[in-house]
Amino acid sequence: MLQILNGAHVAGAVSCLAQLGIPDLVEKGPKSAEELARQIGAQPEALYRLMRATACVGVLSEEPNGMFSETPLSAVLRSNAKPSLRGLAIMGGREWHGRGWSELDYSVRTGKQALEKIYGTHVFEFFKQRPEEAKIFNDAMTNLSTIDGPAVADAYDFGSISSIVDVAGGHGLLLATILQKNPRMRGTLYEEAHVIAGAPNGPLKPVMDRCTLLSGDMFSSVPAGADAYLMKHIIHDWPDDMCIKLLKACRASVNADGKLLVVDCVIPPGNDFFPGKFLDLQMLIFPGGRERTEAQFRDLLAASGWKLNRIIPTAAMDSIVEGVAG
Ligand SMILES: C[S@@+](CC[C@H](N)C(=O)[O-])C[C@H]1O[C@@H](n2cnc3c(N)ncnc32)[C@H](O)[C@@H]1O
Repeated sequence: MLQILNGAHVAGAVSCLAQLGIPDLVEKGPKSAEELARQIGAQPEALYRLMRATACVGVLSEEPNGMFSETPLSAVLRSNAKPSLRGLAIMGGREWHGRGWSELDYSVRTGKQALEKIYGTHVFEFFKQRPEEAKIFNDAMTNLSTIDGPAVADAYDFGSISSIVDVAGGHGLLLATILQKNPRMRGTLYEEAHVIAGAPNGPLKPVMDRCTLLSGDMFSSVPAGADAYLMKHIIHDWPDDMCIKLLKACRASVNADGKLLVVDCVIPPGNDFFPGKFLDLQMLIFPGGRERTEAQFRDLLAASGWKLNRIIPTAAMDSIVEGVAG
């Protein structure tokens, strides 16, 4: 139990290490706390204590001579790592994130989003008002896409799809990965205007000749006339009524024989450890959504004019829930 209760401290320390850029600074070789403290402007003893703590969970290694060297777990927190989880680690240390989790009991008591209670606005409005936090969030999402993007592109045969819309696709890393693997396909990235603004210089740059960037509100409409509507980590952001609105808009817009491709984790039955069950709590606190079971996806699609055709697992935590016309 003590180990479980310590989890927040471990995550907090690792987030701080990433924020300070220490994993980047030990890439070229072992360094002492004194040298690193001078480089980043920190108090040497306090920095030593931080690194000693993260080293005991494998994030850095403390050598007998007091130097700290890179480990596979610290390497993935470097900004130049592929994949890099630095952005995700930094997001976990932001004030809004911590305050949200500190009010989980409010969300559990009421079923409402804690973040809206704390800041008086929905998390996606909050990001519109705070560009610095929006950048941290978008970077964290792109970090995750460096892992689940290739997993989705590898798991699904896109051969019959010549046009695809990535609905609320962030800066477009998943779409870029799919377009690169399928050279005859055309894609549309559909997002909120303030996110689209950051897309032209993002991961889609090498495939921009086959890609359209469009901004709009996905609950009002989605770009019409594509063979597939893809959405990763979107359905899990919203309660059923909002999802049905969005999925109906996709159903009305899709070409004949087209597909719906929902990429989210599918909660398995049983008590085995599944990190998506904690992501589900994050969905409760922040956007007010949920992770869903197969039966819940089946019902959601049926209520929106789709039929759940199959669920395709990927090498990442997410699965691809494929819908066809219902
Ligand atoms: C959890 S992120 C997922 C981003 C991306 N699909 C990914 O997996 O990296 C949710 C995205 O939904 C977008 N979004 C939220 N509300 C939206 C709306 N009404 N219309 C279009 N996009 C929206 C946000 O800007 C954000 O980028």
